Formats: sequence, C-alpha cells, structure tokens
Amino acid sequence: MLKNHFYKLAGILLLCYLPSASEAVTDKYRVMWRKDPSTTMVIGWNQVSGENPVLLLDVLDHGQNAPEYAVVRKAGQIIEAKGMKNHFVRLEGLKPNTTYYFVIEDSEGISKRLFFTTAPADSEHRLSLIAGGDSRNHRQARQESNKLVAKLRPHCVLFGGDMTKDDTAEQWQEWLDDWQLTIAEDGRMTPIIVARGNHESENQTLIDLFDVKSKDLYYALSLGGDLLRIYTLNSLVASGGNQKIWLQRDLQASTRAIWKIAQYHFPMRPHTKNKPEHNHQMLNWATLFFKFGVNLAIESDAHVVKSTWPVRPGRGPRSDEGFIRDDEKGTVYVGEGCWGAPLRQPNDDKSWTRASGSFNQFKWIFVDREKMEVRTIRTNDSKWAEAVDPDNIFETPVGLVLWNPPSGAVITIPRHQDILEEPPASFPPQEEDLLAAREAMEVLDFSATREGPRVIIKWSTRGEPAGLLYELQRSLDAGETYTTISTLASKEKPENNYRVVDTGFAIQKPGKYINYRLRRTFSDGKCVVLDLRDIHKRDGDWQRFPLIEPDPVSHDILIKYSLKKPANVAILLLNPKMQAAARMGFENQNPGAYSKTFDLKGVPNGRYLLVIKANRQVIRRFRVVKRP
Ligand SMILES: [Fe+2]
Repeated sequence: MLKNHFYKLAGILLLCYLPSASEAVTDKYRVMWRKDPSTTMVIGWNQVSGENPVLLLDVLDHGQNAPEYAVVRKAGQIIEAKGMKNHFVRLEGLKPNTTYYFVIEDSEGISKRLFFTTAPADSEHRLSLIAGGDSRNHRQARQESNKLVAKLRPHCVLFGGDMTKDDTAEQWQEWLDDWQLTIAEDGRMTPIIVARGNHESENQTLIDLFDVKSKDLYYALSLGGDLLRIYTLNSLVASGGNQKIWLQRDLQASTRAIWKIAQYHFPMRPHTKNKPEHNHQMLNWATLFFKFGVNLAIESDAHVVKSTWPVRPGRGPRSDEGFIRDDEKGTVYVGEGCWGAPLRQPNDDKSWTRASGSFNQFKWIFVDREKMEVRTIRTNDSKWAEAVDPDNIFETPVGLVLWNPPSGAVITIPRHQDILEEPPASFPPQEEDLLAAREAMEVLDFSATREGPRVIIKWSTRGEPAGLLYELQRSLDAGETYTTISTLASKEKPENNYRVVDTGFAIQKPGKYINYRLRRTFSDGKCVVLDLRDIHKRDGDWQRFPLIEPDPVSHDILIKYSLKKPANVAILLLNPKMQAAARMGFENQNPGAYSKTFDLKGVPNGRYLLVIKANRQVIRRFRVVKRP
C-alpha cells in the first residue's frame, strides 16, 4: 500500500518535470524600433545554446506549434556584447496596429510563445506610454516597476538612461533578466525606446543591446501617424553642433505632428541641489522645444520627482533660472529618474515647479488628438495593482497608486494652438562667445598614475564653459585607436577637479602600455583632444623651470614656497610620463614662507618635474634631476 503510494507520488513528480515541447535555451527577450513603429519591429534575444535559431512569426497564435507559423526569419545581426550573444531580427512590412505572435526555434527546442502589437498608423487611436529612467542600483524597485509595465500594457516604454551602475556584462545580464518582468502573463511584450545616461560608458552599449539605428544615439520615431513624434536626445554628446542641427531639421519637417515629446538623460534644471545645471541643453534644445512646440520633455538622472508648469526659455522679472511660465506655448518638463536608483531630496524647486517629491516612480502618459495626460505612478506602492483590461488600457486599475500632489494627480496638456514664435533674442549664444569660451579654458595637470591594479587619471580645469563634456579615452595600441572608458559632464565651476579610476585594467592586461587622452566636446559640437603624450611634449620643455638637484649624500632636496592664504599643500614629483614618483602633503598651512626637505632616496635616477599645489592650484614648478 505504502509502496504503491510512493510510485504514484513519483509519477506525479516525473510528469511535472516533463515539458510538452523542449524549450530552446534563449532568454533576455526585447522588442524595439529602428524604423516606422507601425510597420516594423526588431526582436532581440540572447542565444544561450542551440544551433540555427530562427524566429517564427504569424498573426495567428499557434502557441509552441512551430510548423504552423507562416513566417520564418533568421537573425540578421548577431552581436556578442556584455557576455551575451544578442540576436536581432529586423521585421519590416508589418501591418499597423496588428498583433504578431512569435517563438524562437533552434536545434534544442522552441521558446515560450510571445507577442507584440505594432503601433497604430493614424491619429484616431489613443496611445499609452510609460516613461522613466535610472534603474541602476536597486533591483527590487526596478523589478516592481517592470512588473507594472506588464500590467499596464502601454504602446511603448521610453527609458531615459542609467540602466545599470557600471555598464558591466553582469549588470546588463541582470537588467535584461529583470526586463523579462515587463512581459505580461499572456506573453505580451512592450517595445522600448532607449536614451543614453552617464552610466552607459559609450553609445555602443545601447546600440549593441537594443539595435539602435542611430550611432549617435539621437533619433525620432512617430506613433499614430501624425499623432505623436518622440525625440530621443543624447545628453552625453554635444547638445549643439550636429545634434542640434538634426533636431532643428527634424522639428522643421515635423510640424504636422500634433504632439511632440522629447526624452533625454540630464535635467536642464535639476530639482535637487546635488546635481549641476545643464545650461547647454537649455540653450540648444529648450529654445527649439519652444520654437517648434514640443509639449513634453522627460528628464532623468537626478533621482527626484518633479513636474513643471509649461515653461519657455526667458529672462526678466518673472523668470527663474532662465525659464518663464507660459501656459499657452510652453513645454511641460517632467522627471527625474527613479526606476530603482538612490533617491535624492527635492530641495531645488523653482517658481515654475508644479510639484516635486522623492519616491520610485515613472510617468504614465496618454495621448489623443485633443489632449495629453501625464500621471506619476508611485511604483513601490503599486505592488498589488491589478492589470488593466486589455480592451481598455486607459482605465486606472485597482491598486495602482498615483502621486497626488496639491496641483493634482493628472497633468492635462491641451492641444497647442499652432503658433510658431521666434525664441527671445538673447538665445542662443553667438558663435564668437562659444569660441572665446573655448579658448579661455585651461586643462591643468592631466596625469595618469598606476596604483596596484588601478590607474588613476586626474585633471583639473579653469574657466570651463557651459555644456562641456569630457570623454576619457584609452588606447592599447600606442595611440592607433582609442575607446572611451568614461564620459563626464563638466562641473561648470570656476575651478574643477576630475578623477577617473580605470579599475582592474592592469590585472586583465599585464605588461601592456596604456595611452590615455581626454576629448572635450563643447556645446556647439566642436571637439578638442588632449593627449597625455602632448602634455609630455609640452612639459618636456622643463628648462623654463628652476633646477634643483638632490644632495649627493643625503638625496634630499630643499623646496621653498610661500602661501598668501591658508592652504592644504601637496608636493608631487612627476616622471616624464607625468606619473607621481613621490609625494608629500601638509594640511592647513598658515600664510607665510616655507622651506621643506624632500627625501628622494627611494626614487630612481632621472629627470622629474616637481609641482607644488596649494588647495589644488599649482603655485610653483621646479625641474629636478637625480644623477647616478
Ligand atoms: Fe545619470
């Protein structure tokens, strides 16, 4: 009896582990657009194992019954990136507003059945969008937000960058695993439109993982014919120059679009004091938003919540930080991130701020011919929300928690009157101003120092103009080719210090020579590249500095300097590669004259530059020659 019972139990267990069709080992599914969202779709996945994968597609749902599917497509692009074999099938010639079912079949089996719906091609259909960004640190918050995408079944998601913290393979694999939570229980997938944040170290990351068509990561897509044009801008390349020219041309050619939305990473006027202003975006983009009637701008990066009244660039007594409220023709700015990143305090409201807060959130946006509505979803509080009715995706489901500040839970933007007006004459700045600002800027003490497995790269600046971007680039082939390892926005103070740590590199590639260079892109798109080797050449001319030679017996040198005000003093001995061979530091020295002894016993013979800094500013330089 007991034995019989055991076999029954074992039989049940066995049945549980026998799948009906063996599943292909594919994962990390995603769908995107390169071209017209009403007739195209890109299907992306990671091929873990198995041979000859194909995408099987049909307007009819055949489940996992592979032979029934009408269309078979091979991946046209296979991109090995971030430890994954990213396969992409670019589908074209699809029917608008139509659901397509698909599976991926390979030598090992068949994937689960998924589906997507193309965008409508005319403005009669109301659209639902989700927009947010900054998912880099907190997986649980990120997962909760992703689950809500599955429940709300929007036409697409606009994602404003900073998906992961360090842009590593492991973090991206986790991110794409978490993205699977945006797939609804019935297999419905939501297309994603990605923008680059500062935690994506290069454009290539998003091109490789989402098959983005634009190598510069700025592009526009239209949903619903003339109903909506979505602009994705790139805060990590120059906002002026080519990007501005492209934006202006596209806006000029898109005056028929009833609604225009822009998404990009850096908020022009962050609502936390911990983040810098992004004046260059304001000058280059906000003026165009106003001129061409962009209705909504979605920003990220600051990890606070904000919405503004409609504003336009402007000066005068009613303006605040360069924006002025204009209910008729202004742009509503919303943001700023919070898809699972460390929250910040909203301590920098302006006179035109509608509301601000600090919680995990994304925007839920409806667009039809007459109005646009923007809601802010408190994602942490909406864990128990029900899914929308697939036949009425605009009705707030039970359990979905909306932010309800005093200004109201719904921002309604009525359709603009089609009036175009020139922006105020003071914007944008003149070419000559930008040229003068570029020439006035100084980069000081650009250096690379090896510290065990890390290389510390530092530089300081004076007179940084607004809207400057730095790209630190590395070469492993003696300067033949460079790749960007870090992108930073300028701090825009009179004097700034920057530090980048190139981690683990010396362990991965021992014995390799590394060249670094610093590329500066100014707000008008002009670039200036500063090579560490050029610095050596420049500083090779050390003859202009006074010579000090160490005492032949004690190997000491005597250094004299004076301070006009209290300062932290650092004394660095740099070799011809501008690497620190020795250093001394003195904290909080009073004004006065000093003479210090520097022991060079442990320093190899050779030529050096001795630099004395007070509060990080160079006050004296000496030439040092240590002879055998
Ligand atoms: Fe960011």
